[in-house]
Amino acid sequence: MKNNNSDFLHLGKKLLNWYHQNARDLPFRKTKDPYKIWICEIVFQQTRIAQGLNHYNNFVERFPDVKTLAEASEDEVLLYWKGLGYYSRAINIHKAAQQIMSDYSGVFPSHYEDILKLKGVGKYTAAAISSICFNGKMPAVDGNFYRVLSRVFADDFDISSSRAFVYFSELSKLIMPENVGDFNQAMMDLGSEICKPRNPICGDCPFNQDCIAFSLHKTDEFPVKTKKVKAQDLNLQYFFVHRNGKFLIQQRKDNFIWKKLFEFPTSIPEELEQFGKGSKTLNHKLTHKNLTIEVNNIEIPSGKIWDDFTSKNEYLITDFESSLMRSFPKPLENYIQNMLKE
Ligand code: ADE
Repeated sequence: MKNNNSDFLHLGKKLLNWYHQNARDLPFRKTKDPYKIWICEIVFQQTRIAQGLNHYNNFVERFPDVKTLAEASEDEVLLYWKGLGYYSRAINIHKAAQQIMSDYSGVFPSHYEDILKLKGVGKYTAAAISSICFNGKMPAVDGNFYRVLSRVFADDFDISSSRAFVYFSELSKLIMPENVGDFNQAMMDLGSEICKPRNPICGDCPFNQDCIAFSLHKTDEFPVKTKKVKAQDLNLQYFFVHRNGKFLIQQRKDNFIWKKLFEFPTSIPEELEQFGKGSKTLNHKLTHKNLTIEVNNIEIPSGKIWDDFTSKNEYLITDFESSLMRSFPKPLENYIQNMLKE
């Protein structure tokens, strides 16, 4: 699989030397516990290190091992994810912990193929865990690999192609040294600290004598990406139904966006519309969606109407204080915070 005769192996060795002198001092770098590495890979694949470090530390402190996580309630796991976004990651982590308990007697699997079977674990994450913890030999190819390799080789392979993953996996094997765990982490550090999407710091790059794009002053032309996924517009409507500081919420189902998060009612009976106190429009971007969210403020004027409505419906009644213990989509959380200030 690995090309030991490659003419480019010296690049991997250079990268490792650079990494051994410049590796970021990150808490999960001090362990080879596959559980902790798994959590960190899931957290930091979509969240910047500075932004997610507190969440990571709190998460592994409360759930220090697979068993503790598997036995926790989904609501509590979601609570520890609060603020990180992309909540399906938390739901998958929880399910995968239960999978490890049932399929592997609670012992984290050590082979790439078995790690890949865990819920929510893709090729990148399986490669990262198996290489960092078990001396596995798969490159953890992600956007960092695409960017670094396409620049070093001035390679115009289209990264939006469905074949890009396989292509850049093969390319990375040309430079990959024996220590694949360090190599993968070095590529992550190089990609995020030096070979950045915009304004790369080529003066500090271990590849600046080798990088063809740099020598041609063309780093901004790589990687090549022809197809842009167009974001879809989506309108949502909510009703913030409240009385005396209490308001109504419901939990979303395990489908579409914002799985299992809490939200306000999405409709109300006509007779409550007269209590409307205006509405707010919130704009929010998800990865492939532009959301326009209208939140109608419905203030119920009498205890009788409130009791009638809440007894006939299955909404949860909460207040500002207890709502802090539940996870809401970011724009609704902001809305609640703003109402608290008013
Ligand atoms: N981002 C995701 N995983 C990482 C790791 N192991 N090191 C640095 N950055 C990362």
